[in-house]
Amino acid sequence: MDVLGEDAARRDALEAQARRVLGSAGYQRIETPAFESTELFVRTVGEVTDIVQKEMYTFADAGGRSLTLRPEGTAPVCRAYVEHGMHKLAQPVKLWYLSSFFRAEAPQKGRYRQFWQVGAENIGSASPEVDAELIVLLDELLEVLGVRDVELHLSSLGNPETRAEYRQELIDYLRRHADSVSSDVRGRIELNPLRAFDAKDPETIQTMRGAPKLVDHLSDEDAQHFGAVRALLDEVGITYRIDPTLVRGLDYYTRTVFEFKSAALGAQSTVGAGGRYDGLIEQIGGPDTPGCGWAAGVERMLLASGELPVAPMLVDLYVAMADEPAARRAFLLAREARRAGLKAQLDPSRRALRRQLTQADRIGARYVAIVGESDPTPLREMESGQQQELDLASVIPAILRGSRLS
Ligand code: HAM
Repeated sequence: MDVLGEDAARRDALEAQARRVLGSAGYQRIETPAFESTELFVRTVGEVTDIVQKEMYTFADAGGRSLTLRPEGTAPVCRAYVEHGMHKLAQPVKLWYLSSFFRAEAPQKGRYRQFWQVGAENIGSASPEVDAELIVLLDELLEVLGVRDVELHLSSLGNPETRAEYRQELIDYLRRHADSVSSDVRGRIELNPLRAFDAKDPETIQTMRGAPKLVDHLSDEDAQHFGAVRALLDEVGITYRIDPTLVRGLDYYTRTVFEFKSAALGAQSTVGAGGRYDGLIEQIGGPDTPGCGWAAGVERMLLASGELPVAPMLVDLYVAMADEPAARRAFLLAREARRAGLKAQLDPSRRALRRQLTQADRIGARYVAIVGESDPTPLREMESGQQQELDLASVIPAILRGSRLS
């Protein structure tokens, strides 16, 4: 998707807010490569997930290595954590990113093959405060961006052991009700029974209402952790809905999982989502290290926030050329003005002076200097129409004196 004009300015505004919200909580920016070894995603996102089975852009490089354009950011950030020995730093390590990701999905509103995410990953702490703080930070980001009609869905997936027991129970249930679910779900009972909760057809939805729920099968420790996260959210007044059917499309989650959905979006209603991934670092060869994080879709946040206000581009000085031989003096004035801290643009068009002034007006320039071969140099204040005749050397000081520079 091309990003033009005001959309680009809105992204800038979004980035500034993300930097402020996450920076104030001690998150540091990280950037990882756009592609990684395919194996990283197969192992972490999970072999039987939609992302790995259908959506990855995978290719072989000249050396025959299988590479994949990153479909998500958590696995790459964890790979970087392991590769750079970040477990030796003060824990937890807090990282954020604003990067593009790639999934071969059928494009529609809010769903693109190349899209951007703001993400936050907190690695090295198993405390429920981390889960709650991450949710608070995403909530705050969505709020300052004006993302409307947001609802937080929350659940816990427990640990791999209790999940495996539960999985078997769910498979048994689905087998017993195989006639009352869609053929798609029926075909994947053994492979990925949890996805049945994601089905859209009415009969499967009805059948799944009676299915056993994972939140009812948590171990004591996991239930305690979940209770502590909820209590912290209650404490700060963040409302949420416990959603036992919350199934994330990635395999690495343990314990807390959450999704922020916005009614302002259509079918692709999840603006941001995440959870805890306590086994992930170890799975990719690092020490046993807990982690938790989220990612929010930039395009979806912008869609759901409507008119995120953008600051108009400021132009303090527009340098017009009275005639061709003035080019050098005009060029130098624009450069000097920028060095003096002004936002200055040069009109290189050599069109009639009248049209240069029209252009200055269109872009909202506050002053126009009309530079000729020799002085005096007229300096016009556009709003009042007042004009002074100055030496070229006096133009910048005059603007600095008269201006309320931002
Ligand atoms: P995810 O749920 O796959 O999670 O994606 C997070 C968000 O990215 C979605 O809620 C959505 O806003 C946006 N998104 C995903 N796919 C697309 C698409 N094709 N077009 C536009 N936006 C999209 C993750 O990616 C995890 N890595 C989140 C996480 C971080 N979990 C722990 N840490």
